[in-house]
Amino acid sequence: MAVERTLSILKPDATERNLTGKINAVIEGAGLRIIAQKRVKWDAGDAASFYAVHKARPFYNDLVTYMTSAPIVVQVLEGENAVAKYREIMGATNPENAADGTIRKLFAENIERNSVHGSDSADNAAQEIGLVFQESEIVG
Ligand code: TYD
Repeated sequence: MAVERTLSILKPDATERNLTGKINAVIEGAGLRIIAQKRVKWDAGDAASFYAVHKARPFYNDLVTYMTSAPIVVQVLEGENAVAKYREIMGATNPENAADGTIRKLFAENIERNSVHGSDSADNAAQEIGLVFQESEIVG
């Protein structure tokens, strides 16, 4: 299986509740390595560029408002099959449907305040990592 990279975001509900360490423990416990990490505060332009794919969706404006409401932690995760592995340990978008032991089951508050983002394909991972990190910030 190929070693891949994926983009992870610990969302405002996670930073506000001091859950960074607990979520990182789940990530590292699954064998994913955090090879880049920084805490940032997005403005509306940052969130709009990142979520451009969702622009036509009814939840888009609320999502941009939410993602700019507090600091977030952006990360690059590396490991075998990292994109699918992280999606698996994140759990379903709506925490009501998330499997036991997943990050969203453990920590998410609702479908919007769902604690984490993870890229959904290798192509999107490369694009999202490029949006958020300089190559020099990633130390594999
Ligand atoms: P999506 O890409 O469908 O989910 P995932 O984060 O699991 O890849 O949606 C992106 C984010 O948009 C999601 O994490 C939270 C928000 N969202 C809502 O607020 N309401 C919704 O009904 C959906 C589908 C998503």
